[in-house]
Amino acid sequence: MRILRGDAADLAGLLRPLGITRACAVVSGLPLLAMRDTVRDRIVEESFALLEPGAPFIQFTYGLASPIPRRKLAWRAR
Ligand SMILES: C[S@@+](CC[C@H](N)C(=O)[O-])C[C@H]1O[C@@H](n2cnc3c(N)ncnc32)[C@H](O)[C@@H]1O
Repeated sequence: MRILRGDAADLAGLLRPLGITRACAVVSGLPLLAMRDTVRDRIVEESFALLEPGAPFIQFTYGLASPIPRRKLAWRAR
């Protein structure tokens, strides 16, 4: 396992030097509920830009509902 320390809002920039431009999954324990909308949206957008079509974005959250407002969900979510 390789661990990178950096800002998830610049996920593509963190991974590019390693030659990683695609991902088969994103698993997040980031506190999306506590973030400003703009930061949260940036992290989610960066993640989906890396993900293959149909690949999962898995978010662990303490909230009972998605930390990403439903109106923003342009993808299938559960
Ligand atoms: C509740 S802890 C979860 C720790 C671990 N990921 C887990 O799931 O057990 C939230 C972590 O998100 C990190 N974090 C918050 N904003 C971040 C960001 N923009 N980019 C990268 N890490 C961030 C914090 O530094 C903290 O370590």
